[in-house]
Amino acid sequence: MVDSGPIVSLLDVRRDYSLGAERVHALQGVSLDVERGDYVAIVGPSGCGKSTLLNLIGVIDQPSSGTVTIAEKRVDGMSDREATSFRLHNIGFVFQRFYLMPILSALENVALPMAEAKLRREERDARAAELLAYVGLSSRERHRPSELSGGEQQRVAIARALANHPALLLADEPTGELDARTGTEIISLFQRLNSDGTTIVVVTHDEDLAKAARHNVHMRDGRIVAA
Ligand SMILES: Nc1ncnc2c1ncn2[C@@H]1O[C@H](COP(=O)(O)OP(=O)(O)O)[C@@H](O)[C@H]1O
Ligand SMILES: [Mg+2]
Repeated sequence: MVDSGPIVSLLDVRRDYSLGAERVHALQGVSLDVERGDYVAIVGPSGCGKSTLLNLIGVIDQPSSGTVTIAEKRVDGMSDREATSFRLHNIGFVFQRFYLMPILSALENVALPMAEAKLRREERDARAAELLAYVGLSSRERHRPSELSGGEQQRVAIARALANHPALLLADEPTGELDARTGTEIISLFQRLNSDGTTIVVVTHDEDLAKAARHNVHMRDGRIVAA
């Protein structure tokens, strides 16, 4: 069976950054498997390598050494073009600062990755409307990001991340910009998504979000110290 292995598999991954003459060893030999259907929170002090790790899983960045396999495909060493196409069809990424397009409506923002995937106009509008309904924003389809609250903008960003049926949803501090009550809405949404079958890996400082996940992976100084 093709789909039986872990959806994420990292083996002895290192990531060094050059900063002037200095080398920063952001990841120092990380191995991690995430099973399909799991919901994993990566936690640990600021600077320990959480975002670096998530960016490698999301094929936004490449390791200095080690292997990264996502959905049975080796992604380390991919060209930029391959990586862009792989991300479009396999990965949804949610960021702390939403990164919505300010001149597009909520519906157009959610439909954008579907346009990149060459879906027909009617199909994209129908699916974008469905996704906005899923995140509870049917009444906000025509609103621009500046006409939405922070929590609503993050829900649009989550709907956008789901546009092309990704096998994997990644989120880096998704409640970091939100007040506690709004953060709770995002936590509930992630739980519903995971119950409905989405595999989620989230990086967070938010204890409530970490508690809601099925597993926590603890990092320190570029290493996993407990999983
Ligand atoms: N582009 C970069 N260039 C140089 N150093 C970086 C870069 N990105 C991250 N780092 C360093 O790598 C380490 C891990 O960073 P990061 O993964 O962002 O940590 P976290 O998300 O856990 O706060 C930190 O020491 C950080 O300063
Ligand atoms: Mg970070």
